[in-house]
Amino acid sequence: MVRFPELTFDERLGEFAEDVVAGLASRPRTLPCKYFYDARGSDLFEAITELPEYYPTRTEIGILRDHARDICGELAPGSALIEYGSGSSLKTEILLSAGDFAAYAPIDISPSAIEGAARRLRARFPSLRVEPVVADFVGEVVLPKSLDGLPRAGFFPGSTIGNFDPADARALLRRMARQLGPGAKLVIGVDLRKSADILVPAYDDAQGVTAAFNLNLLHRLENELGAEIDVDGFAHRAIWNPRESRIEMHLEATRPQTIRVAGHDFRFAAGETIHTENSHKYGASDFDDLARSAGWRPGETFVDANGLFSVRVLEAR
Ligand code: SAH
Ligand code: AVI
Repeated sequence: MVRFPELTFDERLGEFAEDVVAGLASRPRTLPCKYFYDARGSDLFEAITELPEYYPTRTEIGILRDHARDICGELAPGSALIEYGSGSSLKTEILLSAGDFAAYAPIDISPSAIEGAARRLRARFPSLRVEPVVADFVGEVVLPKSLDGLPRAGFFPGSTIGNFDPADARALLRRMARQLGPGAKLVIGVDLRKSADILVPAYDDAQGVTAAFNLNLLHRLENELGAEIDVDGFAHRAIWNPRESRIEMHLEATRPQTIRVAGHDFRFAAGETIHTENSHKYGASDFDDLARSAGWRPGETFVDANGLFSVRVLEAR
């Protein structure tokens, strides 16, 4: 398994600490959502995907199953499939079963998620070259040499693109266009704007799994950075922001307290929040505009019968 960039454990921890200090010092206070995904966070995300309220995963799986042949028909035969934020790679199996792929390179920041997925896929598709890469896909990701010479196709499901503000999403899509090359296709899952009555419970479920996923960030600060935090003094909040068309997740201090981390004290008044995630929801044509501005030509769009979620095939110009 390739890890890129090749940082030592201490360097990675140093980066985490710097991001945490910068985020907690800023106003509004923030923490980057990529840090949700340690081993426990990845497990909690998988539990979220099975919740009755969390419609995106089962809806996208339905779309992929219904249209796998059409989608794979758009991709060059014998491609290397490059997946961004692959997690458990469960959706990928639908494409790998329906299409003709020579190699599969899952990219994910979570070593535990990618290791388990790679093992399973090697067993299920013995002739497929599986080349996992543990990396932050926002940074420079060098793909394994063994993919050189193969046509490339991208896969970015889950509406993970929605976790980026539009400007960052555009920059990321541009980078992917460069990495995949002119004429390459990107199959991307994009969640659609809908009623707050559906959106809010999807991010604030009755069993409290999403709350545990959000609060796990504070446990990471305690466990990995030795932070002193009264984790029970924070509560999960999911808020629909119609102006920005996004669900926001926050951690709200329910009583005054101080987080001590990496030699800094951050004082919280009761009611103050840390903004931990945005999940942008797109109108049908908004996403096409974003994709065009990032060097992609929108092609086929597949939407479920209830108009909840879309899977799009884009072509790099
Ligand atoms: N693609 C899967 C998982 C989505 S969850 C699905 O559709 O169900 C988001 C995934 O992206 C997680 O596995 C997380 O570890 C990964 N991830 C989030 N931010 C990332 C980043 N900046 N770089 C690489 N992987 C990231
Ligand atoms: C990975 N990402 C697209 C998920 C989402 O829906 O924004 C993460 C998530 N956050 C809370 N629940 C799920």
